[in-house]
Amino acid sequence: MRSLKNSKTWLFLYQEKKSSSLNDKDIILVSTPKSGTTWLKAIIFSLVNRSTFPDTKQNHPLLTTNPHVLVPFLELNLFLPSKSKLVIPNLISSSIPSNNYDSNPSLFSTHLPYVSLPESIKTSPCKLVYLCRNPKDVFISLWHFTNRLRPQNLAKNTMEESFEKFCNGVSLYGPFWDHSLGYWEVSLECPEKVLFLNYDKIKKEPFLHVKKLAEFLGFPFSLEEEANGDVARILELCSFDNLSNLVVNKSGRLSSGEENKTFFRRGEVGDWINYMTPEMAERLDSLVEKKLHGSGLEF
Ligand code: A3P
Repeated sequence: MRSLKNSKTWLFLYQEKKSSSLNDKDIILVSTPKSGTTWLKAIIFSLVNRSTFPDTKQNHPLLTTNPHVLVPFLELNLFLPSKSKLVIPNLISSSIPSNNYDSNPSLFSTHLPYVSLPESIKTSPCKLVYLCRNPKDVFISLWHFTNRLRPQNLAKNTMEESFEKFCNGVSLYGPFWDHSLGYWEVSLECPEKVLFLNYDKIKKEPFLHVKKLAEFLGFPFSLEEEANGDVARILELCSFDNLSNLVVNKSGRLSSGEENKTFFRRGEVGDWINYMTPEMAERLDSLVEKKLHGSGLEF
């Protein structure tokens, strides 16, 4: 497998494997929507597969494939036979042995809150990487995203109406604070099972967090790799500027219909300031502070 040079062939085999099973060594990225899932999918994919694809400038799957294709959503891509029926089976016990063409783990993702995860995932040795982001940027990113996806003939969601819903906990995968808190608590109880990451912190210290992530996943960087600039190369490959300017992400579409470009907007920390009034920011800050009080989790 490692000798495969053609990224399309590799991608095909990779997808075949993914659809057949979930193994104990597989990795699941969990995130609250609009917290940078696309970015972390790209980073995790590059980390885990770096010996297969050491060259980040040529023939790397991320150069021609959107991260959501490489790391599919369990609830959207793999276990949703029709758009009207959501099926989340007991993944581990119903799994079929994988074809073992490659020793690398398969990668999956989900937005499900911890309480809704199948028991099979909770009790399996699968590692979970959780990603969150400061709630004000999550809200602004979500507001833009939902409006970009809205059919042209429908009126846009207003900021005020969307904000009211967000503050009332009306979100697709449950209230923002419950989502983060659920995984935060498990990450404290079982740090070997759940790594809790924050978009804002990765942005601030990318090397530190990417190295920590690689170690958690069981793919630590050797001193030689570090000296070689391998961490920097992965960060560059997965950077907002690089990914958002690739043809596939400028003009492609996911099989579910969304344009790839909708997953790339500004990719910055603190963009909320350009949209929210000081009153809105204060309301959301104090709400989240109250909800997280005593947990040790802060944004
Ligand atoms: P903004 O709307 O604030 O720009 P998700 O991937 O969970 O849907 O989150 C989307 C957010 O992540 C968007 O935030 C998007 O621009 C940002 N993003 C996408 N790719 C990124 C990257 N490579 N680096 C940093 N941020 C990225």
